[in-house]
Amino acid sequence: MSDASWQIRPETPADDAAVEALNAASFGPGRFAKSAYRLREGVDPVAGLGFVATSGGQLLGSVRFWPIRVGGHEELLLGPLAVRGDQRGKGIGIALMQAGIDAAKLGPWRGILLVGDEPYYAKVGFSRLPPGRVRFAGPVDERRMLGLSLKGGEMLTVSGQIRRARIDDANCADSAGLG
Ligand SMILES: CC(C)(COP(=O)(O)OP(=O)(O)OC[C@H]1O[C@@H](n2cnc3c(N)ncnc32)[C@H](O)[C@@H]1OP(=O)(O)O)[C@@H](O)C(=O)NCCC(=O)NCCS
Repeated sequence: MSDASWQIRPETPADDAAVEALNAASFGPGRFAKSAYRLREGVDPVAGLGFVATSGGQLLGSVRFWPIRVGGHEELLLGPLAVRGDQRGKGIGIALMQAGIDAAKLGPWRGILLVGDEPYYAKVGFSRLPPGRVRFAGPVDERRMLGLSLKGGEMLTVSGQIRRARIDDANCADSAGLG
């Protein structure tokens, strides 16, 4: 999706530095302490599910997805999702998520989890998970734990501890105790 002034396309390795800078500007250093971030620590994002919004070669927004394990299955964690401060409210965030969701539907995953504001993520189909069904290792407000089923209704029935899917960076092997 795009309008006349911006386009959505798959992320490439050349986008990495700009995406990292956008996430740092959008979330600040506090992002490293969040439970969702710790599930990403030492794990690479899912190749093929990262998308960027650009205009004239400039990065306006980015979404990435991480693999996680829930109840013995690999599923997806959405985020970080960020849109440059001066470009918000134009539909870029929704378009980025929709591109990622459409691509994820072609893969093996049953669903996508995230921690965020339900009124926003409901715009692309997320809804609150039943309380107590899935657990993060760290503190998370249950009202912000949302899920989206990619195939049928499976995401609403998943249960268990959410863990890191694997460890790609051996330096992080035991740093979060989530593996
Ligand atoms: C959240 C964020 C990605 C939204 O991007 P965006 O491109 O401005 O969003 P869109 O233009 O696609 O959607 C805008 C719509 O969502 C609504 N919206 C935006 N943030 C919302 C929120 N937190 N709760 C409810 N609604 C929200 C807007 O009011 C607007 O509604 P409308 O279409 O009815 O007018 C952007 O504000 C951002 O980067 N924020 C900082 C980083 C962040 O918090 N990321 C999300 C957590 S991972």
